[in-house]
Amino acid sequence: MNRIAREGDTKFWHPFSDMAVARKSEFVVSRAEGVWVWDTSGKRYLDATASLWYANIGHGRGEMADAAAAQMRRLDAYSTFGDFANEPALELCARLSDLAPMPDARVFLTSGGGDAIDTAAKLARLYWSIQGAGERVHIIGRTNAYHGTHGYGTSIGGIEANRVGWGPLATGMSLVSYDSVEALEAEVKAIGPERVAAFFVEPVVGAGGVLPPPAGYIEAAAELCRAHGILLVVDSVICGFGRLGTWWGIERWGVEPDMITFAKGVTSGYLPLGGVVISDAVAAPFWTEPGAYTFRHGPTYAGHPTCCAAALTNLEILEREKLIPRGRELEGALLGALAHLADHDGVAEVRGGLGLLAAVEIDPEVLRRVPTAVAEVQRRARDAGVLVRPLGSSVAVSPPLIIEESELEMIGDALATAFDGLSGAT
Ligand SMILES: Cc1ncc(COP(=O)(O)O)c(C=O)c1O
Repeated sequence: MNRIAREGDTKFWHPFSDMAVARKSEFVVSRAEGVWVWDTSGKRYLDATASLWYANIGHGRGEMADAAAAQMRRLDAYSTFGDFANEPALELCARLSDLAPMPDARVFLTSGGGDAIDTAAKLARLYWSIQGAGERVHIIGRTNAYHGTHGYGTSIGGIEANRVGWGPLATGMSLVSYDSVEALEAEVKAIGPERVAAFFVEPVVGAGGVLPPPAGYIEAAAELCRAHGILLVVDSVICGFGRLGTWWGIERWGVEPDMITFAKGVTSGYLPLGGVVISDAVAAPFWTEPGAYTFRHGPTYAGHPTCCAAALTNLEILEREKLIPRGRELEGALLGALAHLADHDGVAEVRGGLGLLAAVEIDPEVLRRVPTAVAEVQRRARDAGVLVRPLGSSVAVSPPLIIEESELEMIGDALATAFDGLSGAT
């Protein structure tokens, strides 16, 4: 028995979960170290997803625990509203500004990626309002995009299942096909360029299926935004901190965003933290004239000193161990380790090759016959000792950046075992 089947009922309502199923069979993770996690029975698994795309430095580092504990003893937490600051928040923002691909960037800190997205959306609209362009409120997102579960993030998210059931979504937002600059251009024209505040783009679509952009897409979209004065907001919540082999992912296309949202890899998940990197031009109106404009926005834990101390230590580890380029160095090896799966009955395609993330798409015919096939592949891979993640009609792989090439092979082997004998595949 590899899973911890709890016979009793749970009170824990899991996110994105069918609780009618999960209440009777929770998989209880008890310990983790490096690329490995253990369940409560002591069975070991390879964490092929870096948890939820975030454990970039791997799990269980004493150095991270020590940094958080030392900070908690010194200053556990304190608000940063108004003129309050703390040393870790100051140091972290200075460091992130130095790393940003735009000069003299400012950094707004949040509790996670969804907070960062809603921060960027509100800031984009407010920026245009104080420029005297109050009609510039429209925000364009992309099909298949995932920008978290907050109000605006849900409204510009392009995974259909996440958009329904809530009643009306936020107004003044629309979606265009994730892979077509022509579609973006047509939408800008239809809305009226002078009414479009911002365009949100994930460099590689993550939760929507691991979809690298077509060649030239990012550059052309950035150019279109620049030509019409539309703010380019790059959502690097997954793609940042080494996942694509650079600090923010977007450097791979050489374009300069107006804002970058981040979370996950900034602390490798040891503590929750997110934020928005903001260009000097967007920040300037708020930073210049006392009494002119205040951004009346920010979560309670913005600049939480213990979370910031964890982020600083995480950045140190990423740099010291040269982990940032790993996302690029290993991208070919990861795709190579999964490529043979394309020959399996039940596999429609293997996607990836840009950054340390990939997806294995299940044959639509198999899914039609066996609607639970994705969950079945996940369970079978888990039984074979590897944790992968269901992602719509595919399973996703996005291991910690510390993974070795031989361990990438283990992911391919476990998935092959999972697809062998998948019911309905033959
Ligand atoms: C690209 C992207 N943006 C935003 C978010 C939301 O982040 P959070 O779950 O921390 O709110 C996610 C989460 O997976 C994400 O993948």
